[in-house]
Amino acid sequence: MQQLLSIRNLSKSFGSVLVTNDIDLDVPQGQSVGIIGPNGAGKSTLFNLITGVFPPNSGSIQFNGQAISSFSSAKRCRLGIARSFQIPQPFSGMSVFDNALVASAHGAGLSAKAADAAAIDAIEKTGLIEKANVLAGSLTLLERKRLELTRALASQPKLLLLDEIAGGLTDKECQSLIQTIKDIKADGVTIIWIEHVVHALLAVVDRLVVLDFGQIIADGDPEITMASNEVREIYTGIDADA
Ligand SMILES: Nc1ncnc2c1ncn2[C@@H]1O[C@H](COP(=O)(O)OP(=O)(O)OP(=O)(O)O)[C@@H](O)[C@H]1O
Ligand SMILES: [Mg+2]
Repeated sequence: MQQLLSIRNLSKSFGSVLVTNDIDLDVPQGQSVGIIGPNGAGKSTLFNLITGVFPPNSGSIQFNGQAISSFSSAKRCRLGIARSFQIPQPFSGMSVFDNALVASAHGAGLSAKAADAAAIDAIEKTGLIEKANVLAGSLTLLERKRLELTRALASQPKLLLLDEIAGGLTDKECQSLIQTIKDIKADGVTIIWIEHVVHALLAVVDRLVVLDFGQIIADGDPEITMASNEVREIYTGIDADA
């Protein structure tokens, strides 16, 4: 099977703390993968390694068959890796449209006309078209989450990395965000989604990966993985065999 992302023996430590511990992960083109795990398990660090925020201590990352570990974040973005941030990071003093345009023009490297069209397309897909001329700094939490998605989409991703995009939303807001992410999936974008709101993940993903202390401790069918003793133990603190 053609793997879009292939991670081998990836490790990262901060000081003496091993935060990513010898991770192997293959994600085929078109798959949607959920990642769960306790706070501090190393989930966002994995995204930071994939997007090149900092280098790993060891291991390799291949994207579309190409070794990318030495590439800058900007170059990885041009290749088609985009992310949303756990804490939304828009340009607050710029409009929604201009935020999207930065992503399509600089992130994806599209020329003026194509960048405009891609920005509008992303804003439409994420349901922010009526807010296109509003300053990002005045958006509500849901709208800021949607803008994270807009910016990532406007950079024309093959691989979309979502970091806790559903956290803090009401049930109704969460449902509409789930539908938006389903639509993105239906367009063929490969997705890795870190989320504590497990029911949102289960509505979308094909596969669930569980991280704990920087290691993958479960990986497979979402419902089966959630029902496993090891995962229930982590989430309830109760030893299921006891
Ligand atoms: N740049 C950094 N410098 C030093 N320590 C870091 C850095 N980034 C993360 N860490 C530490 O690495 C560990 C894993 O952090 P990470 O942000 O990957 O966790 P997470 O699984 O995303 O947690 P959460 O669910 O709370 O978002 C934590 O102990 C964190 O304090
Ligand atoms: Mg995190």
